[in-house]
Amino acid sequence: MHKHLPITVLTVLFICVLAAAPHAVSAQEQEAQKAVLVTGASSGIGRKITEVLAANGHFVYAGARKDKDLAELNKMDNVEAVRLDVTVQDDIDAAVARITEAGRGLHGVVNNAGVGVFSPMNETPEADIDFVFDVNIYGPYRINKAFTPLLAENKGRTTTIGSIAGFISGRRSGTYSMSKFAIEAYTDALAAELAESGVLVSVIEPGGFKSKIREKVVLHAMGKTLDQAGDLTAEEQEQLNKMKERNESLKEPDEVAEAALHALFAEKPKPRYMVAPDAEEAEATIRAALTRVAQLNADQPYSYTLEQLNNMLAELVAEQ
Ligand SMILES: NC(=O)c1ccc[n+]([C@@H]2O[C@H](COP(=O)([O-])OP(=O)(O)OC[C@H]3O[C@@H](n4cnc5c(N)ncnc54)[C@H](OP(=O)(O)O)[C@@H]3O)[C@@H](O)[C@H]2O)c1
Repeated sequence: MHKHLPITVLTVLFICVLAAAPHAVSAQEQEAQKAVLVTGASSGIGRKITEVLAANGHFVYAGARKDKDLAELNKMDNVEAVRLDVTVQDDIDAAVARITEAGRGLHGVVNNAGVGVFSPMNETPEADIDFVFDVNIYGPYRINKAFTPLLAENKGRTTTIGSIAGFISGRRSGTYSMSKFAIEAYTDALAAELAESGVLVSVIEPGGFKSKIREKVVLHAMGKTLDQAGDLTAEEQEQLNKMKERNESLKEPDEVAEAALHALFAEKPKPRYMVAPDAEEAEATIRAALTRVAQLNADQPYSYTLEQLNNMLAELVAEQ
């Protein structure tokens, strides 16, 4: 256990993680009726963020793709549904035009839309990698590129729903993790580039929370979508039911929505918000990040001693 780093390093880190205040935002920090665009607002985390923003008095442009979802979202107070597939440039251009014409400006963007596949790398068709990257990587890239001028007018915020899969990768999760690792690099680059404009950039890294994503992953492997879920063999239905059961055992993504509120409205948003549902997922993520540090450092001409690493980490922890 803790083979590569001394206990003190981990103690400092975990004390900081545990002592961190929840992502509470004071009333003053949340100016009412600031407008925020949320992509993928039809279900799961995006829907929850939409509900929480709207309930807090903000105005939400809620992105969705299907008529029934757009109609549902339009029923909510403080919400205007926007037809928005993040892989379709015409949709994005129309959304920019509509939000610009509405005249209330844009304070924030939550790049939430996301998809996954679950298969071994060597058995994953290139089309599946394209499918995931198109939504999870190119989606935020296209959306931020299109909306940065509006955000810059308000010195606004943009945040992306990354994942602890942006730090952890393993059997069958490669494609999804590749997309979420990419979001880490993308976020750091964009944050540095937009700093001068006053637009603040962050990434939220949830662990496992209740949503539709797992059902969709299972159906995708069967060549089906959620709308075709009535059309399954008994074996497929059993597989789907198992996944639904697992999903039901997960927490509602309230803490993810809290982190989004903080990223959008706190005076000093954090660059990264890890939102693990429990201590095990938090530890797995921190351990995966530290494992890379230990592996990078091991057995090379410029390796640091454990004491030097410990001091370096203590400094970095103090800076957060
Ligand atoms: N739930 C978790 O445990 C978890 C953990 C870490 C990270 N995340 C991330 O959280 C985000 C939200 O996922 P979720 O778990 O809430 O899953 P979800 O319930 O399946 O929601 C995904 C949302 O993205 C939308 N979407 C998919 N493709 C799109 C496209 N091309 N253009 C626009 N919207 C699109 C979906 O719309 P449709 O209904 O039209 O398909 C849906 O609204 C994703 O980025 C996911 O990777 C989730």
